[in-house]
Amino acid sequence: MATIDLDLTINDEKYRRGDIDGDLKLVDFLRQEVGLTGTKFCCGIAVCRVCTVAVQRVPGGHQEAMRACTTPVSDLNGKIVTTVEGLAKDGELHPLQTAFLENFSFQCGYSAPGFLMASYCLLDRLKRSPIPTADVDDAIQDAVGQHVCRCTGYVRYHRAIRQVILSTPGLVTA
Ligand code: FES
Ligand code: FES
Repeated sequence: MATIDLDLTINDEKYRRGDIDGDLKLVDFLRQEVGLTGTKFCCGIAVCRVCTVAVQRVPGGHQEAMRACTTPVSDLNGKIVTTVEGLAKDGELHPLQTAFLENFSFQCGYSAPGFLMASYCLLDRLKRSPIPTADVDDAIQDAVGQHVCRCTGYVRYHRAIRQVILSTPGLVTA
């Protein structure tokens, strides 16, 4: 076990931990060391994507969807992590969260944080590089098409994400 000094930002807060196992998986670090249990764990082998979080390599950089169950914390040194707990601001839900609720996208909710964080990364990509309306369905499929929802909310997740993309100015070109 190689221990490291860890320095990263999670949901706008700095975390510095000395002497931590560099192989510790991000999902375990978030849940056990930081107390952020919104990020879920299921398959543990990078298949179901319930553990997805958003990571920026540098401030203002692209939001990258990352599977926390297979990512060692040593890969996160100096990076910026956003989890589902970081989406709501000043007591206001993120539009994706509101749309998921309005569309009854989830039932048990276990898959919801992963769908939220992957679609959050998609919105970030579209802000930087808008796409034609005709391509929105494919873009959603690319972003969340491999996420597993055992309650089979796929259509309603898709509908909610589509609703947010089409109602947010600047994400589509026509
Ligand atoms: S827990 Fe299934 S991909 Fe991470
Ligand atoms: S809402 Fe239950 S697993 Fe998706």
